[in-house]
Amino acid sequence: MDGNGEKRADWRPLVDELEARRALSVPDYGRLVSCPDPALDEELARRAREARAAVYGDAVFARGLVEFTNVCRNDCLYCGLRRSNAACHRYRLSADEILACADEGHVLGFRTFVLQGGEDPFWDDARLCELVRALKAAHPDCAVTLSVGERSVESYRALREAGADRYLLRHETATPAHYAKLHPPALSWENRMRCLRDLRALGYQVGCGFMVGSPFQTAADLARDLKFVEEFKPEMCGIGPFVPHRETPFAHEPAGSAALTCRLLSIIRLIHPPVLLPATTALGTVDPRGREKGLLAGANVVMPNLSPVAVRKDYDLYDNKICTGEESAQCRGCLARRVESVGLRLVVDRGDFKH
Ligand code: 5AD
Ligand code: FES
Repeated sequence: MDGNGEKRADWRPLVDELEARRALSVPDYGRLVSCPDPALDEELARRAREARAAVYGDAVFARGLVEFTNVCRNDCLYCGLRRSNAACHRYRLSADEILACADEGHVLGFRTFVLQGGEDPFWDDARLCELVRALKAAHPDCAVTLSVGERSVESYRALREAGADRYLLRHETATPAHYAKLHPPALSWENRMRCLRDLRALGYQVGCGFMVGSPFQTAADLARDLKFVEEFKPEMCGIGPFVPHRETPFAHEPAGSAALTCRLLSIIRLIHPPVLLPATTALGTVDPRGREKGLLAGANVVMPNLSPVAVRKDYDLYDNKICTGEESAQCRGCLARRVESVGLRLVVDRGDFKH
C-alpha cells in the first residue's frame, strides 16, 4: 500500500458526501481546502461540470459590466479605490455616458447590465433610482444588477422599486475577526450581513462572495465561507484571488492562487448547483488562462467590460488588472473565443437563476 493511494482514499468519501448531501461539516470543508493532492482538483472539477450541465447545459452567461464611478468613501485595506489612496485618479461617468455604454452593450447582445462602483456619495438614492429607471425604460428586456456597496434598507427598497433586479455584495469573509483585519473599524461584518439579509428580503437575486488568499486568511476561514454559501444559498457568488495593489497597506502581500480559486469554484458548484458563478477578472489576472480554468472548474458567467476605455485603467482595484485596453466589442469577442475554447457556448439572454 503506497502512501499516495492512502492520501487519495482520504478525500474520496468527502467528495461523495458533498455531492450526495450538498453539504459538509466546517472541519470537512477545511480538509478539502487544505488537501495537497492535485487529483482532488480534477475530481471536483469533473463533478462540478456535471452539476452545472444538469442545470444550465453548456451555456455561459455574459453580464455587461459598467464601472461607473471609482469614488469611494470607504477605506478597505485591500482595495486600490480606498479613499486613502491619493494616487488614484478619480472619475464619475454621467448618466448619459452610462446609458450609452448600455446601448452599446445591447447591440452586442447583452441582456444584463451590472452597474458597479465605489461607495460614492454623489450617487444618492434620487440619482441612482433615476438612473435605474432610465436604464430599464431604455432596455425593458434587460436585467439590471447593482454593485454599489452597503446602503440602508430604505435605499435598497427604493432601488428595487426603481427596477433593480439583482445586487452583488461580496461578504468578503464569513469570519468576523478576519473581516476586522481587512477593513477599518468603521466597517463591520454585522452590517455587511444585515445588508445581505435586507437585499434578500426585498426580493433581489443576491450575490455574495469572497477573495481567495486575502491577507490573514486561513483554511478554517475558507471553510466558514463555504458553510456560509451552503446556508445562504446565494443566487450568485463572486470569488477571485486576492491581488495586491501597490498603493495599499497590503502592497507586499502575495496574490491568491488560481488553483485554489478553481477548487473553491468546484466546491461551490457542488454545494449549490444552480448558483451563477463568474470566472472573474482577478482570476484572469493571476493566470493568463485563469478564466478558462475557472469555466472548466464549474463557473458559468463572464463579465465583459463595457466601460469607456478612457476610464478603464482608473478602475484600479488591484495591480495588473486585465481588459483595460479593449473596446467593448473586442472584450466580448475575446471572451466568446475563450468560452468556446473550453467547449462551452456564450449566450445572450438574461441568464436568470434557475430554481
Ligand atoms: N484583489 C482582489 N479582489 C479585490 N477586490 C477589491 N480589492 C481586491 C484586490 N486587491 C474585490 C472585493 C470587492 C470587489 C469589488 O473586488 O472582493 O468586493
Ligand atoms: Fe476583456 Fe479579453 S475579456 S479583453
